[in-house]
Amino acid sequence: MSEYLSDHVRLGDDLTSVVILDQTLLPNRAEYLTLREPEEMFEAIRFLRVRGAPAIGICAGYCLAALAEQRKDLPPAQFGGELHRLSAYLNSSRPTAVNLSWALNRLGNRAHSMSGAAPSAIAAALREEALAIHREDIAMCRAISEFGLTLIKDGDGVLTHCNAGPLATSQYGTALGPLLLGTERGMKFQVFADETRPLLQGARLTSYELNKAGVDVTLICDNMASMVMKNGWINACFVGCDRVAANGDAANKIGTSGVAILARHYGIPFYVLGPTSTIDLKCPTGDDIKIELRDPEEIKSKFYAQPMAPAGVKCYNPAFDVTDHTLISGIVTEKGVCRPPYAQSLAALFH
Ligand code: MRU
Repeated sequence: MSEYLSDHVRLGDDLTSVVILDQTLLPNRAEYLTLREPEEMFEAIRFLRVRGAPAIGICAGYCLAALAEQRKDLPPAQFGGELHRLSAYLNSSRPTAVNLSWALNRLGNRAHSMSGAAPSAIAAALREEALAIHREDIAMCRAISEFGLTLIKDGDGVLTHCNAGPLATSQYGTALGPLLLGTERGMKFQVFADETRPLLQGARLTSYELNKAGVDVTLICDNMASMVMKNGWINACFVGCDRVAANGDAANKIGTSGVAILARHYGIPFYVLGPTSTIDLKCPTGDDIKIELRDPEEIKSKFYAQPMAPAGVKCYNPAFDVTDHTLISGIVTEKGVCRPPYAQSLAALFH
């Protein structure tokens, strides 16, 4: 492919595969994986080899486009059935980030609009749509970064949770975007990155990305957020989001709502940053967002040389939580900063 887009998620040169940087191996190894089979694609999303709501959407788009290209010689009716089945299968890999179904539906609608066309033409159109999703994400991240940068000033301390940087998106990221853009412009920030138990996206990915970009980043355990806020080191909290409900309740990585509650206690503004593709107006409130439950071994044994809990002990491992809209100072999208009341300001984005 001649066009250059950010390359941690991309369509393979053969157009029938998807190439991803395996994020589970970072920061120690940067290895790329080629995904060809639907099961490999499902596994890569399910096990967070590719992760972060926008990146999952971009990846899913490329996956469906690659699978369509593989099947372009099927008879039209069979081709249509296969697309439908594969889209539903990929969509079942993770439930919380709306970008997954958003991207797949976008490709599905494109295919639907071409009913009667040859499968090869539909496959080419799906590829175009997937590339458009990727391209648009780059522009959205850039715009979010610009709007986010208006909320902080040179020298500020910013706390972030999980990873909402380039790896989770395309370029710049959402929550990390203003910090990276400001740094490019010569600004200095002190960023505190929560390690983000149990999968350590903050330690493995956020501190890696910020460090590489020359941002002053300090890694803390999740339970140290209160301390750095109390010390007066934090001027704002920036987090990403996986699904924002119509009333402004925002699902993001487990632990985010605790950060918001602490920020309210210490009088620190708490901002959620994400593209409009992460806003789900069909979801009235946070109670309607399905929260992914994951394997207890992620708490007990993953990343440890030996298990750190008794073998039979019960664990509860929700991957996301919902921050109540009343705790959110602003929701930063590519179209601007939405302020409360969110029921109105979010709806206005889509008019
Ligand atoms: O389980 P993950 O690593 O996919 O969760 C990621 C997050 O919660 C991010 O904060 C969110 O997707 C926003 S990414 C711009």
